[in-house]
Amino acid sequence: MEFKHIPVMLNECIDGLNVKSDGIYFDGTLGGGGHSEAILKKLDNSGLLVATDRDEEAILHTTNKLSKYQNFKAVKSNFKNFDAVLDDLNVLNIDGAILDLGVSSYQLDNRERGFSYMGDTRLDMRMDKQSNFSAYELINEYSEEKLFYILKVFGEEKFAQNIAKNIVNERKNNKIETTKQLVDICDKSIPYKFKRDGHPAKKTFQAVRIAVNEELDGLDTVIRQIISRLNKGGRLAILTFHSLEDRIVKTVFKDLSTACICDKRFPCVCNRKQIIEEVNKKPITASEEECLLNSRSKCAKLRIAEKL
Ligand SMILES: C[S@@+](CC[C@H](N)C(=O)[O-])C[C@H]1O[C@@H](n2cnc3c(N)ncnc32)[C@H](O)[C@@H]1O
Repeated sequence: MEFKHIPVMLNECIDGLNVKSDGIYFDGTLGGGGHSEAILKKLDNSGLLVATDRDEEAILHTTNKLSKYQNFKAVKSNFKNFDAVLDDLNVLNIDGAILDLGVSSYQLDNRERGFSYMGDTRLDMRMDKQSNFSAYELINEYSEEKLFYILKVFGEEKFAQNIAKNIVNERKNNKIETTKQLVDICDKSIPYKFKRDGHPAKKTFQAVRIAVNEELDGLDTVIRQIISRLNKGGRLAILTFHSLEDRIVKTVFKDLSTACICDKRFPCVCNRKQIIEEVNKKPITASEEECLLNSRSKCAKLRIAEKL
């Protein structure tokens, strides 16, 4: 299957990063390499781009696609290993970084990966195919309470309780093996009049995907690690696609852009220092034109921070 992914808000991200031709950059979510290639085009021979992806298919495809660039280093790794990846390459500090969170269109459209509620394949949803925990284990082994929590918190699914109960009932007889079986359970768990709010399995699939890939765990920590290795004036751009991710980014950026909070009439006791400045007070969203061309960009939010 062809590796297709249209980079979201490409110009906004690259302009926002203020790429210096001799700078060192990090792309934590390489995917099809749209953002990476745009950065590489701005670098001269003394610049460097280090990229990670936890999906081997993305690494293989994009390393090949960008093979003409000498100053490009791709590592199959979770971006949460940011510090270790940089240490291994003897890179101390960087001039900018980008995280384009979530899954690529290639992962979603490749039915074999089991991310899509449109096909009928084995439940999977692992970004890293070497991981030994997939949607199959989650759906067939988690307790009703745990399933409810995941659907409610990661999917913001109104009918989380019904769906969790029906999953557990269904698997008493047979294992739930396919995406179609899960779609059918969602379909029968949601009352007819609420099905106008989008595909009945959309929120459940989002929730299961986030849980299987532990997408939110440690995001806060890695953002702080990246910022601590940014040179002065260096920038971090983060694209998010749902409110849970965006809330984490917003909270860390707010925390790191807050200076001393003590009563100014007294000496400081909080020892807080402002570390970053948010480049835009509000998140940037995709233009109408882009949303028409690429529906995936409709829910994207871009936040950019600059190290002080
Ligand atoms: C939205 S796509 C990135 C697309 C890319 N910016 C482009 O222009 O083609 C997200 C990619 O990040 C990867 N990914 C998601 N979370 C990751 C993580 N924690 N560590 C490493 N890669 C991750 C996914 O496997 C996927 O390939």
